[in-house]
Amino acid sequence: MAVFIRPACGSDIPYLYEICLKTGDSGKDASGLFHDPLLLGQYYGAPYFFYDPSLCFVAEDQGIPQGYILAAAETRDFNRWMEQVWLPPLRRRYPEPYPRERIKSPFEQHLVLLLHQSLESSEPGYWSSYPAHLHIDLLPAIQGQGVGKMLMHTLLDALDRRNCPGVHLGLSKSNTRALAFYQKEGFSELQAHELWLVLGKSRVPIAP
Ligand SMILES: CC(C)(COP(=O)(O)OP(=O)(O)OC[C@H]1O[C@@H](n2cnc3c(N)ncnc32)[C@H](O)[C@@H]1OP(=O)(O)O)[C@@H](O)C(=O)NCCC(=O)NCCS
Repeated sequence: MAVFIRPACGSDIPYLYEICLKTGDSGKDASGLFHDPLLLGQYYGAPYFFYDPSLCFVAEDQGIPQGYILAAAETRDFNRWMEQVWLPPLRRRYPEPYPRERIKSPFEQHLVLLLHQSLESSEPGYWSSYPAHLHIDLLPAIQGQGVGKMLMHTLLDALDRRNCPGVHLGLSKSNTRALAFYQKEGFSELQAHELWLVLGKSRVPIAP
């Protein structure tokens, strides 16, 4: 295997959707849960590339992207862009109420509702110290071989160059493997919800 990390490019977009779906069920394949195989990537994958490709990296193996890390440096600005640019056409494409015959699972229903939820209504306190957020997903073929770590360090270096003070992420409590990975990479818990956690990692000392 000769996996290498590089900045994402436009021709990676279909792979972002594919990887997002195949790792979307708390790290496992979510294909069986979706009538529309693009839906997950519409929210958690592609927008990051169109918003700021300089914070999107892929792990390529034999010419094919097999994993990615995607981030936005200022979550507040990203959410504003989502509201103004990315979500309006999607809200027309996936109207609410959505036809029942196009909903394969409660997870797919949840995603449709998510598209219609305002992203500008609340700002958690931790955003000031951890303004960036990220998503990282690797297909099983390249998991457990240090590639996630390489992707993470590539992104953290890019955030450091922008003097970003910290980064956060959300994960399902059932994704214990990812939790172990993040803890190993120095992330700690910022918030605990019933089904999911918010973790964060500081990049520079934060003033008390
Ligand atoms: C979670 C994920 C990103 C981790 O990437 P990875 O390439 O598998 O992890 P790495 O091999 O780079 O491991 C990095 C470090 O974390 C540790 N680690 C990884 N998985 C671990 C586990 N299950 N338990 C304990 N430690 C673990 C490794 O031992 C390694 O430590 P080291 O540097 O001391 O050797 C990857 O497995 C993945 O994409 N999973 C599916 C999608 C997913 O769950 N994404 C996260 C959604 S929130």
